[in-house]
Amino acid sequence: MTQSYEALLAKADLVARNAYVPYSKFRVGAALLTKDGEVITGCNVENSSYGLSNCAERTAVFTAVAAGHTEFSAIAIVQGDDALGTSPCWPCGACRQVLVEFNPEMDVIFREPGGVRVTKLHELLPHYFDKSRLFMEAT
Ligand code: THU
Repeated sequence: MTQSYEALLAKADLVARNAYVPYSKFRVGAALLTKDGEVITGCNVENSSYGLSNCAERTAVFTAVAAGHTEFSAIAIVQGDDALGTSPCWPCGACRQVLVEFNPEMDVIFREPGGVRVTKLHELLPHYFDKSRLFMEAT
């Protein structure tokens, strides 16, 4: 388990090198693991109109969905040259919401000093909004 999560982190490291970050210089890489074992990666892509910048995690999710995947079991997130293990680069609120659409139980994987940290997505976004609410009968 930890071994394959190391491999997922390594893929996130690689894609972080492609981050387009002329404004923040803050490189982020994300590697999504599908339930059938494929890995889809994404990096952050910034824009001179700052608010249009897209986070690494959402790039990975949107790329995966466009390739036909909607079932994810884990996502690894790294910042820059995180290889030495700093503190987790926690996903922003928007990315948590986008990820929770697909699987609140997915593992979110980070490096931290001394090893790998794994947390469940729903722990990062308690009381999340989801489609079950949309389909409730109005009372
Ligand atoms: N960023 C991500 O890609 N993922 C996160 O979880 C947090 C922030 C990006 C957005 C922006 O390009 C840069 O990091 C600084 O906020």
